[in-house]
Amino acid sequence: MSDRRKFLKTSGLIGLSTLAAKLMGEEKISALEKLGEQENSGKSFTLPKLPYSYDALEPFIDKQTMEIHYTKHHQAYVDKLNALPSGNIDFSTDDATKCSNIDKSTSAIIRNNLGGHYNHSLFWQLLKPNSENKTNLPGGKLASAITKEFKSYEEFKKEFSEKATKVFGSGWCWLILQNGKLKITTTPNQDNPLMNIEGNEKGKIIMALDVWEHAYYLKYQNKRADYITNWWNVVNWEKAEELFNTQ
Ligand SMILES: [Fe+2]
Repeated sequence: MSDRRKFLKTSGLIGLSTLAAKLMGEEKISALEKLGEQENSGKSFTLPKLPYSYDALEPFIDKQTMEIHYTKHHQAYVDKLNALPSGNIDFSTDDATKCSNIDKSTSAIIRNNLGGHYNHSLFWQLLKPNSENKTNLPGGKLASAITKEFKSYEEFKKEFSEKATKVFGSGWCWLILQNGKLKITTTPNQDNPLMNIEGNEKGKIIMALDVWEHAYYLKYQNKRADYITNWWNVVNWEKAEELFNTQ
C-alpha cells in the first residue's frame, strides 16, 4: 500500500472514530468499551442447575411448563442481565444483596431481570418431586412458627392460597419473616420482599410462589386456583425450613 493510501486509510479511521464519538456521545463509547471488559472479566449471571428433571413434578406441574419456564423464561432474565453494559451491576455482592439494593431509582431493566433471576432461582429450590402424592407438611421449628402465627397449618394454607389467587396480573406470593414474625405478602411483576420499594413488605424469604400465567397456563389455563392447590403437593418444606432456621 502506498504511503498516500496508508495516510488516507488511517486518517479515515480516525475520522470515523471521531464521528462515532460525536454521534453516540462519549458516555456510550465508554459503555461499549466497558461491555468488552465485562465479557473478558467472566463476571456474568448463569442459569442455576435445576435440581430435578423437567417431568419430576408431574402430575402437579407438567413437564412442558417446567421446560419452557426454566429454559425460556428464566434464561431470558439471565440473558438480559448479561447484555447490560458493565458498571450497571455490582458483582462484588451476592444476588440477595443485589436485590436489597434495588429501589425506585433503579432502572426497570435491572429491577425486572434481577428480580426475575433471583425469584426463579429460589422458586426451583423450593419445589420437590412428590409423584406418589404423599402428604406434604412442614416440620420442625417452621411448623411450630406457622401454627403460632396462623393458629393452624390449615388456616395458613387458606390465607396463602387466597392471597396468591388474588394477585392481580403477574406476580408472586411469599412467606416472609419480618421482625421475627411470619407474614404472607405478595409483590407485582418480578419484585420481591428484599427490594426497597414503597408499599413492599420487607423480610427474609421463606417460601415463594410464582403466579405468572407462564407458571401454569399450559396445564391449568385460567384456573390459577387449581395450580395453587396442586402446588402445595410439591412444596420443598425442607428447603423452607432451612431458610427459616438460618434467619
Ligand atoms: Fe416464572
